[in-house]
Amino acid sequence: MAPALTVLADGQQLAALVADRLLAALASGRPLGLATGRTMEPVYAALRHRIAALPPRQRQQLLAGWCSFNLDEYVGLEPEDPRSFAGVMAAALGRPLQLPADRLQLPDGRAADPDAEARRYSAALAAAGGIGLQLLGLGSNGHVGFNEPPCAADAPCRCLPLAAATREQNACAFGGDPAAVPQRAISLGLAEILAADQLLLVVTGAGKAEILRRSLQEPPCPEVPASWLQRHPRLEVVVDAAAAAALQLR
Ligand code: GLP
Repeated sequence: MAPALTVLADGQQLAALVADRLLAALASGRPLGLATGRTMEPVYAALRHRIAALPPRQRQQLLAGWCSFNLDEYVGLEPEDPRSFAGVMAAALGRPLQLPADRLQLPDGRAADPDAEARRYSAALAAAGGIGLQLLGLGSNGHVGFNEPPCAADAPCRCLPLAAATREQNACAFGGDPAAVPQRAISLGLAEILAADQLLLVVTGAGKAEILRRSLQEPPCPEVPASWLQRHPRLEVVVDAAAAAALQLR
């Protein structure tokens, strides 16, 4: 089935639409799957504003019921490290919303045995009933979460080495030095991602236009991990005009 595609010219409008989806997903009571990356910064800003604007009772209810699982985390960084995804999520949502630390769940990047931590995290997600809505960004090499190419559609949550392209893409948070980016990460796999009730892929910028086209409009293959998302019956894709530039639109 073709995904529901929304192309928005304006970044503010895009962030607002995605924040509305997240708010509805939080209110549903099902665990929410969250993502990091620059794409999500305006989305989380819009979500904070929406939550702040709720009537106090509704806001309290929403925050009290908050249950989210992030896609991934670097191996070797403390959660207090602002470069870790735990640190990023605490700055974007945890502290501004005064969420107790255990509500924003992520793999533990400090775990002595990252493989065991990946199994624990996957089991914790399963025990919570799996993901309701999974928010996803797109890596410039076609990764989702940190599922680097090549990646099978049934790859589980695991510890894996990061691709050189990914370490370059994420170097800006590490003083611009790709060598300073951790070499490994723990990531939910395509297995857990495809098991979510709904997927919401958010992509912005001309630099992702070609990989977005390959992800959505070429047959799924391990070389483009995001292409497996086509198999999900409830995939929504929200993009800006620059990211949509290479898509064949009817
Ligand atoms: C990161 C994350 C992904 C994210 C992607 C895109 O490395 N692991 O979950 O979606 O790469 O990041 P950005 O939005 O900064 O382009």
